[in-house]
Amino acid sequence: MIVEKHMLVLFGSTGDLTRRKILPALYSLFEKGTLTRQCPIVCFGRQELTTEEFVKGLDLEKYLKKYDQEILLRFFRQLQYVRLDLRNFDSATLKQQLHRIATAYQAGANKLFYLALPPGVFGQAVNVIQQFVDDDGWYRVVFEKPFGQDRQSAQKLNDEIRKVLDEEQIYRVDHYLGKELVQNIFTLRFHNEIFKWVWHKDAIDHVQIIASESLGVEDRAGYYDKSGAVRDMVQNHLLQLLSLVAMEPPSGYDEQSIRDATGKVMQKLRPVKKDDVVLGQYEGYVDAKGVDPHSTTETFAAFRVFIDSPRWQGVPFYLKTGKKLNERYADIKVVFKHDRELCRQGDCDQPNVIVIRIQPDDGIGIAFNVRSPENESITESVLMDFCHHCYFGPNTPEAYESILVNVMQGEATVFPRWDWIDASWTFIDQFLVVAEQPLLYTKGSTGPVESNELLIQDGRNWLHGEMSPESSKLKRSVLRPLSVLR
Ligand code: BG6
Repeated sequence: MIVEKHMLVLFGSTGDLTRRKILPALYSLFEKGTLTRQCPIVCFGRQELTTEEFVKGLDLEKYLKKYDQEILLRFFRQLQYVRLDLRNFDSATLKQQLHRIATAYQAGANKLFYLALPPGVFGQAVNVIQQFVDDDGWYRVVFEKPFGQDRQSAQKLNDEIRKVLDEEQIYRVDHYLGKELVQNIFTLRFHNEIFKWVWHKDAIDHVQIIASESLGVEDRAGYYDKSGAVRDMVQNHLLQLLSLVAMEPPSGYDEQSIRDATGKVMQKLRPVKKDDVVLGQYEGYVDAKGVDPHSTTETFAAFRVFIDSPRWQGVPFYLKTGKKLNERYADIKVVFKHDRELCRQGDCDQPNVIVIRIQPDDGIGIAFNVRSPENESITESVLMDFCHHCYFGPNTPEAYESILVNVMQGEATVFPRWDWIDASWTFIDQFLVVAEQPLLYTKGSTGPVESNELLIQDGRNWLHGEMSPESSKLKRSVLRPLSVLR
């Protein structure tokens, strides 16, 4: 696949995100031939640097999983560093500089602006972009998260950028939506008859959505301490996963219909109650460099939420995320109802579970009961397992590659629209008002014990109990590709 020729203009090119995610993704697209020589990458930065100095300072090799030296050198030739002070720039000179680069690479007039910047300077960057809106060709503008700090600031930001940009030109990134297994939630639900008919309250007992991280805040304390887990992970990634799991079948498979359907989920979220939320902070967080020693910022959040729609009436959705936990993984477990009374000789059937493993080990598992050959009066729960990379190979694109290709193709489905952002912040603002102070938890644990208790009270022993596919009762088997079945 080759994308249309265009110039990619990167704001914040000396930052961490550029080095860790954006440039590695662009390198990979260049290596695959998706990005051609006619797609130069203009890197804006405040420092006085030559392109050679900029490239050297990137130390990009460190951030690439694998690379070919010769292709990497060619990729570096796609980069052009341009010094830019957002508050004080000369429009004519800047236009000339970009024009010269576009001509040298025969890139044409299309422009993709990527704002890898803190939201506080989005407005200034949009002023720069405004200089180019009358050019021929398309232009699209990518905004990194966070999009606002609360509903009010998000609204203000949106109003500011909408003065210059139409909604169709705005791409608000949520990199979780670029992950292969996240994109598969839609496919699983709407391209499989066997799941379509059971995806509702009569069949589903509850849903768990977990993004557990083993790392701490590392060197991002300056940002994180003002944000916390709820704004950093829940408002965007976790609520997006919830939207995909819970959305109604869209009226069509086009971008607008799908975004209409996910937007409606946010509008139907019931405000949480105090007792449905547990926030936590890992021990030692306040000692990290850049963190306020008296900080009450949460590094963990677990909560239960309901969706007020006929499909989901009474079905709890449990969401959890945290830093410095025992394991790094993200998954969704759709746990089906089962007859808790139907126990034979004290051994009860396990519920059916669909596990969507986002990372690591991306894949989908289905737990179901089989007869135990050793003791015919009991059943055993086994996991039929689809391993994505075993089937499709390890080369599925990284989330950022997929995000970038979508923008380059003008495909906006995987980018939250303003109505979604607006409703998600409304939910989060209320959430943060009712939530109590974070409870301390030990590093390497599963979070504050209270978070498990909260949910066990429900009679649903989530996370580490009987329903967890990681539990020893559940044996894993492998789902083979259909082609080998006779
Ligand atoms: C980012 C958050 O959006 O997502 C980080 O700002 C978090 O705090 C990261 O670590 C998690 O992403 P992933 O892809 O590693 O699960």
